[in-house]
Amino acid sequence: MSVRPIIRPDNPILRKKATRVTVFDKKFQTLVDDMVETMLDAPGVGLAAPQVAVSQRVVVVQLPDDEKSREEYGDEAGKLYVLVNPEIIKASKEVVEGIEGCLSIPGYVGLVDRHEKVTVAAQDQNGKAFRKKADGWLARVFQHEIDHLEGRLYIDIAKDVWKPEPEENEE
Ligand code: NI
Repeated sequence: MSVRPIIRPDNPILRKKATRVTVFDKKFQTLVDDMVETMLDAPGVGLAAPQVAVSQRVVVVQLPDDEKSREEYGDEAGKLYVLVNPEIIKASKEVVEGIEGCLSIPGYVGLVDRHEKVTVAAQDQNGKAFRKKADGWLARVFQHEIDHLEGRLYIDIAKDVWKPEPEENEE
């Protein structure tokens, strides 16, 4: 496993629509393992493959296993999600505003509207299909990361983007 460099918006790969994953071979497993290691090293709560310059439809998400996360998600706090070829198949009408950052845009955060709840259909690291309902922060991170697979960044849809004080930095 290794930490891979995270690319910035000046790299066009970040703006490309990523292609579907069809081969779940050893090379793909290494990509997923490296993405997890890169996310944890950053540290961040989510990472999409285009951010490590691989234009494939895979994201990894892991919220911290802290008290706030445990209150909201119980036993699932700190759980690692690997979403391959993810699709949002259901989204709540209710939209919530929240602050986001992005590992590809260090030093900034923005105010972004997201669906409060989503249901994602995806495959796991081995290609097995599953569905996952998410709400709150987890739903926000899923939407942010899945946007990366379309070449979309939070700064495209944010109502406001600013440089936070260090303690305000979220992702
Ligand atoms: Ni991001």
